[in-house]
Amino acid sequence: MTTFLLRGRVLSFLTEPESPEDRASYRYEEDGGVLIVDGRIADIGDFSLVSGRAGKEVRVVDHRPHLIMPGFIDAHVHMPQMQIIASYGAELLDWLNTYTFPEESKFRDTQHGRRIARLFLDETVRHGTTTVAAYCSVHKESVEAFFSEAHERNIMTIAGKVMMDRNAPQAVLDTPQTGYDDSKALIAEWHGKGRQLYAITPRFAITSSPEQLEMAGALCREHPDLHMQTHLSENHAEIAFTRELYPWSKDYTDVYEHYGLLGPKALFGHCVHLSEREADALSDSGSVAVFCPTSNLFLGSGLFDYQRYRKRRKPLRIAAATDVGGGTNYSMLRTMDEGYKVIALNGEKLNPLASFWQITLGNAKALSIEDKVGTLDTGTDADLVVLDSRATPNMALRMETVETLTEELFLLQTLGDDRAVREVYVAGRAAKSAIDTAPPA
Ligand code: GUN
Ligand code: ZN
Repeated sequence: MTTFLLRGRVLSFLTEPESPEDRASYRYEEDGGVLIVDGRIADIGDFSLVSGRAGKEVRVVDHRPHLIMPGFIDAHVHMPQMQIIASYGAELLDWLNTYTFPEESKFRDTQHGRRIARLFLDETVRHGTTTVAAYCSVHKESVEAFFSEAHERNIMTIAGKVMMDRNAPQAVLDTPQTGYDDSKALIAEWHGKGRQLYAITPRFAITSSPEQLEMAGALCREHPDLHMQTHLSENHAEIAFTRELYPWSKDYTDVYEHYGLLGPKALFGHCVHLSEREADALSDSGSVAVFCPTSNLFLGSGLFDYQRYRKRRKPLRIAAATDVGGGTNYSMLRTMDEGYKVIALNGEKLNPLASFWQITLGNAKALSIEDKVGTLDTGTDADLVVLDSRATPNMALRMETVETLTEELFLLQTLGDDRAVREVYVAGRAAKSAIDTAPPA
């Protein structure tokens, strides 16, 4: 049995915070302890009480004065786009054709896939993210590479082979049948292996024929417990092209609805320009709209109206995500900083407690994995992040005037990045320090 006790300021959320003062929404221990036994949280609370229960021999890792929280969750990110992050000058469809599809064609090569998967998981962990919902490329090999690497490190992931059979170069196309067969084989091999979960992943309506969306729907029916991830209503040219390709549809969402792709495990990236009918359809089906602020800003796609979606008569389930490489940073802190500004441009605010709820318990609930991660409840997996609010001179100076936890969280979100992440625990294993001290690959 591996047992140790973390000491620090321990914060986790219980419900979605309604205001910056919503003290009932979270649990906070100024001198807290988290007891970890064999990769799971075995006890949590006031340090002296937890330590008393654990016994004198227990090894203590002292993270004071830092904050210990559940690890961050990134609900939409593209592993094969690491080397096109920060590509200049294009909106979505040009960006896909100019940068993305040529880049993803490299992932037929298993060696390349394995190298990038390794670096990708290094980078996400370094930024405090312990679970990702990730897109691989169209190639089965890229998914093998990704899951193998994640499984070796015991990182929880949701991932899938992109299905795409048209409107892209041959090197990144499958067919309705091979897309189905490859997905089936990957599900059989990987879904539920250790901490790996498979997501059925039709890229979007433009790159899938009706026959392929039919096949994706069949996969969802055959595996109702699996996630489904795709893109929806990101950019005006994309929406117009989709309407041309599916002229019978009421709107973009109706295309996915028609093929049976909506539901509580369905994750729709972007959802920037939804009509009320589309938002109703997502809400009625329990589908999730994924907010990708750095990407929506970088590609000039538009302003996701977070508060409209949450406060409407039929609220949407919302997740937050980086969408690297359309997104420009692996950090969920940077993501929520940009998210805050997008919400401000829509004339609203997102309170700092709600931001940190979103990237922990909120995303866990949106991905239906809150029984495993996103809280610090006993019995859940010990995926944790340790945050240093004085990580830079600028942050340390500003901290001199901070008086409340809510203010501190807002400072972390506004000024923080990977430098503020002191340590990350993945299933109870210190993972960031292990990456930082590993010899170069
Ligand atoms: N729509 C279809 N594919 C993609 C992608 O890779 N990134 C983004 N941002 N949008 C997409
Ligand atoms: Zn995406």
